Amino acid sequence: MTLAFETEGLVKRFGKTTALAGIDLAARRGTVLGVLGPNGAGKTTAVRVLATLLRPDGGRAAVGGLDVVRHAARVRRLIGLTGQYASVDEDLTGMENLVLIGQLLDLRRAEAGTRARRLLADFGLAEAAGRPARTYSGGMRRRLDLAASLVGRPQVVFLDEPTTGLDPAKRDDVWSIVRSLAGDGVTVLLTTQYLEEADALADDISVIDHGRVIAHGTPAELKHLVGGQTILVRPTDPARLPEVTAIVGEVSGRTPESPGRGVVTVPVEGDAAFTEVVRRLDREGIGVTELSLRLPSLDEVFFTLTGRHTGEEAAA
Ligand SMILES: Nc1ncnc2c1ncn2[C@@H]1O[C@H](COP(=O)(O)OP(=O)(O)OP(=O)(O)O)[C@@H](O)[C@H]1O
Ligand SMILES: [Mg+2]
Repeated sequence: MTLAFETEGLVKRFGKTTALAGIDLAARRGTVLGVLGPNGAGKTTAVRVLATLLRPDGGRAAVGGLDVVRHAARVRRLIGLTGQYASVDEDLTGMENLVLIGQLLDLRRAEAGTRARRLLADFGLAEAAGRPARTYSGGMRRRLDLAASLVGRPQVVFLDEPTTGLDPAKRDDVWSIVRSLAGDGVTVLLTTQYLEEADALADDISVIDHGRVIAHGTPAELKHLVGGQTILVRPTDPARLPEVTAIVGEVSGRTPESPGRGVVTVPVEGDAAFTEVVRRLDREGIGVTELSLRLPSLDEVFFTLTGRHTGEEAAA
């Protein structure tokens, strides 16, 4: 198995704060590893060590089989990094930013220009290419950041919360960029606080908390940790919600919840319960606009693992 990057027992301290407490991460070549964790979990720190920007205090990290401390310069030639905070020069145009990066990477000016134009076109920025980056919207800035990390045709790309703060349409743009990178054989480490995002993009997910991996697996494996499935029903006529609640409660033997207006959900084991709910709804003549059987969300996974929701701080 060829690993595009890996960390083993990686430790990083900042004064009294242990940001990484012995973290193990690995991604096979051409896959997307989602590193999922709440604020302060250590995501950015892990990325910065892998990207040779921070020296670890213990353990090791390698990219393309090269140790990030001993072979930092060679590692830098393999990677692209999009930081959590924008890294482009505000006063330069989109085109100038990318050409500058190309030249820093030793491309000849003409070559850097060709590469920049290609990336700007790929990222839907061709029309804005001649405008200073400070005039770009948040979504355009993010795309320029992503393009900047790809100028050097990296084999491994680190994307640190690439969609934080983007509206859903712009988030979808970034998602399709990540998918096309992976399709081209690039290995991606994607950090995110969005469980849905890791689910949508990652081949494997490492859930981290307080600088440690607390779970690792495919999205489906992580969801199975919680066990069982969830039935969701939204009756066409909201007035019939109490009847629906009674039906799903009886069939499942569990207490249904109402996570939003007009819908009811209940955990079930096995899909026989689903068939039974459908039969009962039909018999009572209750029409539905939404009816589903799904695996738990990754937020429910995090809650199962830690006893906390992703937004909550651990009790001191
Ligand atoms: N340069 C630094 N100096 C001191 N403490 C730091 C530094 N960088 C990170 N930390 C601390 O290390 C811990 C991990 O931080 P890190 O930025 O890696 O988390 P994160 O998972 O990226 O969080 P977020 O989702 O908020 O970006 C936090 O407690 C943070 O306060
Ligand atoms: Mg971070």
